[in-house]
Amino acid sequence: MQQTKIAILGAGFIADIHIESYHRFIPEAEVVAIYARDPAKAAAFAQKHHIPNWYDNLDRLIAESGCEVVDICLPNFLHAPVTLKAAAAGKHIIIEKPLALTLEEADSMIAACKSAGVKLMYAEELCFAPKYERVRHMVNEGAIGNIYMLKQGEKHNGPHSDWFYNKEFSGGGVLMDMGCHAIAWFRWMLNNAKAVSVYATMATVYHKGKTVCEDNSVVIIEFENGVTAVAENSWAKHGGMDDRCEVYGTEGVVYADLFMGNAAVSYSKNGYGYAMEKADTTIGWSFTIYEEVFNQGYPHELKHFIECVQKDKTPLVTGEDGRAVLEIIYAAYASAAQGKKIMLPFHPKVDRPIDLWLGNAK
Ligand SMILES: NC(=O)c1ccc[n+]([C@@H]2O[C@H](COP(=O)([O-])OP(=O)(O)OC[C@H]3O[C@@H](n4cnc5c(N)ncnc54)[C@H](O)[C@@H]3O)[C@@H](O)[C@H]2O)c1
Repeated sequence: MQQTKIAILGAGFIADIHIESYHRFIPEAEVVAIYARDPAKAAAFAQKHHIPNWYDNLDRLIAESGCEVVDICLPNFLHAPVTLKAAAAGKHIIIEKPLALTLEEADSMIAACKSAGVKLMYAEELCFAPKYERVRHMVNEGAIGNIYMLKQGEKHNGPHSDWFYNKEFSGGGVLMDMGCHAIAWFRWMLNNAKAVSVYATMATVYHKGKTVCEDNSVVIIEFENGVTAVAENSWAKHGGMDDRCEVYGTEGVVYADLFMGNAAVSYSKNGYGYAMEKADTTIGWSFTIYEEVFNQGYPHELKHFIECVQKDKTPLVTGEDGRAVLEIIYAAYASAAQGKKIMLPFHPKVDRPIDLWLGNAK
């Protein structure tokens, strides 16, 4: 079997999920190297996951590891510079969400990958999550008539690492972090229909004092085909991860719940090791998830990209899709600041999307 050589950049939360996906589900991939800036962390990750080479220097990894693909699992502010570096070295790139901090960065990433002749995939796992895909396929069969409304929400009580709360590193709060999933999934469900307007409201309700970023947001997007989509996102919701969608059609409706709806419902007086992502207790009633990585579509997403590399196909979700998501995020921040609908296209010059909400727009 042909094996494509992968280097994972980053050794945190999502890198763990990607390595599980490669090792359990993708024999067509061989993870040859890991990068983390802290050598002890890089070495520990390599040892734990049986990865032959680790690096604390990105340039050395790119030059020496022999990887064909870099899988970028680094904080948002590093997405663009690392993509440019990898593309210049001829590496194919799969990049975690959000694509970049700014539309200018997004454009430069797309252009660099094009001119280097390398593939750029925007890693939106909801486009591959088996339950959501079951929904999409039955909707495409005509099961619920014509879609007139979509809803998607992702909520928990806040990210695991400090950088998410720092707008310089993240570019914004829960909208950047989790709203991007909803927006990408809406476009996916609608065959990349163009968004025409965005209205949003947001606030910092729970993490005040820790961050200036929004931790609760609601975004309403109108698409050119008349569909209305509502994204609900929160870093303020307790009780573990919530990720669900609703599809309303002229002949029916579908609801799908990726976490609670895929879990065993448990009651424990003693508690136990792990229930699901961001659940802070296992005492009492809890939702005991199984195959958490698989259910979210990560193996399917990464396997698809390896196939694209091996068979020279275009990824189903591209840099251009990531850019379209980012533009809608810009519009949502501006709408929440101005209290009015923002029409697309929308491309103001900002350093970080959240500046459009915080009032620092240039
Ligand atoms: N698809 C999803 O649902 C999903 C889930 C979680 C995270 N993500 C995305 O994955 C990316 C990484 O998030 P995470 O949750 O793994 O974060 P994390 O904090 O758990 O891990 C980040 C990694 O980057 C390293 N790092 C941090 N600052 C660095 C710097 N200045 N220079 C070099 N390395 C640095 C950290 O040491 C760590 O190895 C983010 O873009 C995030 O949005 C996606």
